[in-house]
Amino acid sequence: MSPSHPPFRVLFSRDTILRRVHELARAIQDDLQAAGATTPPCLVSVIEGARPFARLLQQVLPGQLPVYEVRASSYGRGTVSSGQVAVSGAERIPVQGQHVLLLEDIVDTGRTIAALRARFLGDGARSCRVATLLSKPSRRVVEVPLDYTGFEIPDEFVLGFGMDLDGRYRELPDVVIYDPEVERSFRGAAAATGGA
Ligand code: PRP
Repeated sequence: MSPSHPPFRVLFSRDTILRRVHELARAIQDDLQAAGATTPPCLVSVIEGARPFARLLQQVLPGQLPVYEVRASSYGRGTVSSGQVAVSGAERIPVQGQHVLLLEDIVDTGRTIAALRARFLGDGARSCRVATLLSKPSRRVVEVPLDYTGFEIPDEFVLGFGMDLDGRYRELPDVVIYDPEVERSFRGAAAATGGA
């Protein structure tokens, strides 16, 4: 059977991600214990992209904590950030007096996470920590403290495991590197054989 998506280079396989998420969960629990926390963190997933990461972390952390969702969009279409962060859904999350743990798929310029931290702290959260699967330090415009980082990556456009390009490739199980050439030849071959 022919593959359903272009053979992009895999940066992190699902297994590698799984292993790292277990390590992050352990670090989160250790910190909570060390701080003598009596209440669990309020998990907030930044959708759409962070959903798979948040789901995995929820499964691995004890207690099946609820995961709240907030929407923040900064990219619009294409591969270039617009610099604008639109937040919606934050008003429905009961963060007052809570230790919030923001869950991100990727921190790039840092604008999204900085805007969300400011929002939740302004709404009365006791603290607001950040767990991100990926971080691109070379792209940072706004410095934000990242408490838990899965992997630091170079300035490559990555897709899969929740991350998309105009809505495509979010469902890929691995984190892959986008390559327009690979995509073009895959589409050309698929068209020639009457496939996808
Ligand atoms: C991506 C990602 C982060 C944000 C990071 O979201 O999920 O939320 O960009 O970029 P920044 O650090 O430069 O702010 P995107 O806007 O692509 O929305 P999506 O998750 O719905 O695809």
